[in-house]
Amino acid sequence: MSLNNEKSEAFFAGQRINLDIGFRCTLECPGCSRQRAFKDIRPIPGHDMTVDEFRKIIGHFSRITMCGQISDPIFNPNLLQFIKMSKEANVTLGIHSAASQKSMKWYEEAFDSFGEGYWTFGIDGLPKDSHKYRINQDGVKLFEVAKLCSAKGIKTNWQFIVFRYNENDIEEARQMASDHNISFELMKSSRFGTAEDQLKYKPVNPEYYISR
Ligand SMILES: C[S@@+](CC[C@H](N)C(=O)[O-])C[C@H]1O[C@@H](n2cnc3c(N)ncnc32)[C@H](O)[C@@H]1O
Ligand code: SF4
Repeated sequence: MSLNNEKSEAFFAGQRINLDIGFRCTLECPGCSRQRAFKDIRPIPGHDMTVDEFRKIIGHFSRITMCGQISDPIFNPNLLQFIKMSKEANVTLGIHSAASQKSMKWYEEAFDSFGEGYWTFGIDGLPKDSHKYRINQDGVKLFEVAKLCSAKGIKTNWQFIVFRYNENDIEEARQMASDHNISFELMKSSRFGTAEDQLKYKPVNPEYYISR
C-alpha cells in the first residue's frame, strides 16, 4: 500500500508502536536475545534513539510502548526527554524495564515528568530472589521503585515470569503487589530449551510454562 504524507498520518494516528530505543542493558537474563541470538556478538548492534528520531515518531503514533527485544529503555540517555515530550504531545507511553541501575533521584524525576501510560517492572519472584534469573538486578530496590511509581499515581505493573525458584511464591508476590496498588501480571515462558543452564529455570508445575 502506498500512502502520501497526509494519508499516512491519518493511517497511523492512534496506532501503537513498540520501540527498542537502545542497545544497552546491565542485566544478563539467560533467556534474553542478548544471551541467545546475540551471544557471541559484541558490541550489540544498534544506537540510542535520538530526540529528532523520537520527535518524528510522536508525530505519527499516539500510543508508544518502549519494550523492545535487546535493550532496557532506561539506558537511553534521552529517556527523560522522551517522557517529557510524550506528556506534552498527549502520547500514551508504556515503559518496560527490569534493570535497576539508575538512582532513586533519576526515577523520581522520570515519574514526576510522566504523563499518560504505564510502567511495567520485570521482577521475577519475590524481590529478594529475582536476581536469580535477572542477573545483576537489585530486585529489592526495583520493587521500591515500583512502589514509588504507583504512589505517584502512575499505572504500575509487576511482570512476574514463573521459574522453578519462584513458582511457590506467586500468591505472596500477588499480595505484595495488591498492597501497593500494583497490577500483577503472571507470565509463562517457553524459553527453556534443552541445555542445563536454561532447563534449571523450568518450573516443575507444567501449568507454569508453555510447551512448544
Ligand atoms: C528484551 S526485554 C526488554 C524490556 C526490559 N529490558 C525487560 O526485560 O522487561 C523484552 C521482554 O522479554 C521478556 N523476557 C525476558 N526473559 C524472558 C523469558 N525467559 N521468557 C519470556 N519473556 C522474557 C521481558 O520480561 C520483556 O517483557
Ligand atoms: S533486562 Fe530485558 S533487555 Fe536486559 S537482559 Fe533482561 S530481558 Fe534482556
